[in-house]
Amino acid sequence: MNKTTISEVHKYVEQEVKLGAWLANKRSSGKIAFLQLRDGTGFIQGVVAKSDVGEEIFQLAKSITQESSLYVTGKVQKDERSPLGYELLVTGLEVIHQAVDYPITPKEHGTEFLMDHRHLWLRSKRQHAVMKIRNEIIRATFEYFNNEGFTKVDPPILTGSSPEGGSELFHTKYFEEDAFLSQSGQLHLEAAAMALGKVFSFGPTFRAEKSKTRRHLIEFWMIEPEMAFYDHEDSLKVQEEYVSYIVQSVLKNCQIELKTLGRDTTKLEKIQAPFPRITYDDALKFLHEKGFTDVQWGDDFGAPHETAIAENYDKPVFITHYPTALKAFYMQPDPGRPEVVLCADLIAPEGYGEIIGGSERINDFDLLQQRLEEHNLPLEAYKWYLELRQYGSVPHSGFGLGLERTVAWISGVEHVRETIPFPRLLNRLYP
Ligand code: 4AD
Repeated sequence: MNKTTISEVHKYVEQEVKLGAWLANKRSSGKIAFLQLRDGTGFIQGVVAKSDVGEEIFQLAKSITQESSLYVTGKVQKDERSPLGYELLVTGLEVIHQAVDYPITPKEHGTEFLMDHRHLWLRSKRQHAVMKIRNEIIRATFEYFNNEGFTKVDPPILTGSSPEGGSELFHTKYFEEDAFLSQSGQLHLEAAAMALGKVFSFGPTFRAEKSKTRRHLIEFWMIEPEMAFYDHEDSLKVQEEYVSYIVQSVLKNCQIELKTLGRDTTKLEKIQAPFPRITYDDALKFLHEKGFTDVQWGDDFGAPHETAIAENYDKPVFITHYPTALKAFYMQPDPGRPEVVLCADLIAPEGYGEIIGGSERINDFDLLQQRLEEHNLPLEAYKWYLELRQYGSVPHSGFGLGLERTVAWISGVEHVRETIPFPRLLNRLYP
């Protein structure tokens, strides 16, 4: 007997296999029971025909409760109607553990109830699909940056100096000293880029943001590439190629999951570099023409503004050259126009908002020191960062892609809470 998994049954057509599985759902009509089985690798329908298995196994099949664990044996058959393309003609069943009153039933549940039961909700077909897509994006990310000659670097999680400003920092004690949980690995990645050329990180990021929106998490995961000798323009090229690569990888490797989620894949097929670009100034002009009177030069764009801009395109759009005063201290001012910086936010289509923030970094020691002072940042904590501009400073650029917002967009899932296994939200630290 071949012991296998649902994802591998295609290798055993017309053969008998054994699976370890859970019962996701079940229905029966007369002398046939249909078991929706899941094993983590996928979902398959098991067909139990009384005439094939006899009275005892048939009654057992009918008595198994939702989310009980079992060993199932059966013959693999082609089935064009199922998303997997196969079903299992069950020949034997063995219950490992009978589940009692599983709380998440096939009927509708409210969001709070599902979030309270996130440890179980993760088992559902939809959540399974989102997690598989998340995994594919991570896999394709490592593949892309490895192919392009980047070195993976792991910046610290406990830090003394912060890149994105003070108000959103999580404070903690570091023995006698004050420390923060990382809100971006960028500063350390800049140091690593001076040692290794092209680097990237993938790690958790913490922001004590009091925002309760469908795009904000308190703890999220960021992919941060940093590249020596790359200017702003070079960095935009990496961004559009990388984002196209992960979208095309999901299309190639997650067909079943995209189908489960009902994602319109024709929209994803269009995501190919190059991406359109618009300056902050032109974006503002467009918003004024559209009747947005609530935003003036120097203001940041909110979600409604980003959505209105993104609606003009069927690919992600770069908004470039934001006002210097709006952005972080480290961004390189435009040499011809220092009131704006060489930066870009990448806005996803279909209202999913900003997925990337990036910029060219200041490489001049005096200017960087001046900007730190203007931002009232303690020079002592940034001494090491300033030193990068004292020993062979070079033009360099980098960016950060928010994984959860990217998963939401590619999966077509409305809220980021469904894109991370255990979301940390404003009022949620459990499960
Ligand atoms: O634009 P941000 O703040 O950029 C940085 O942190 C830079 N230091 C990155 C770099 O250049 N190395 O954040 C980058 C991305 C955003 O575009 C967004 O996708 C995501 O991180 N992000 C969040 N995702 C979920 N919840 C939040 N609270 C987020 N804040 C930012």
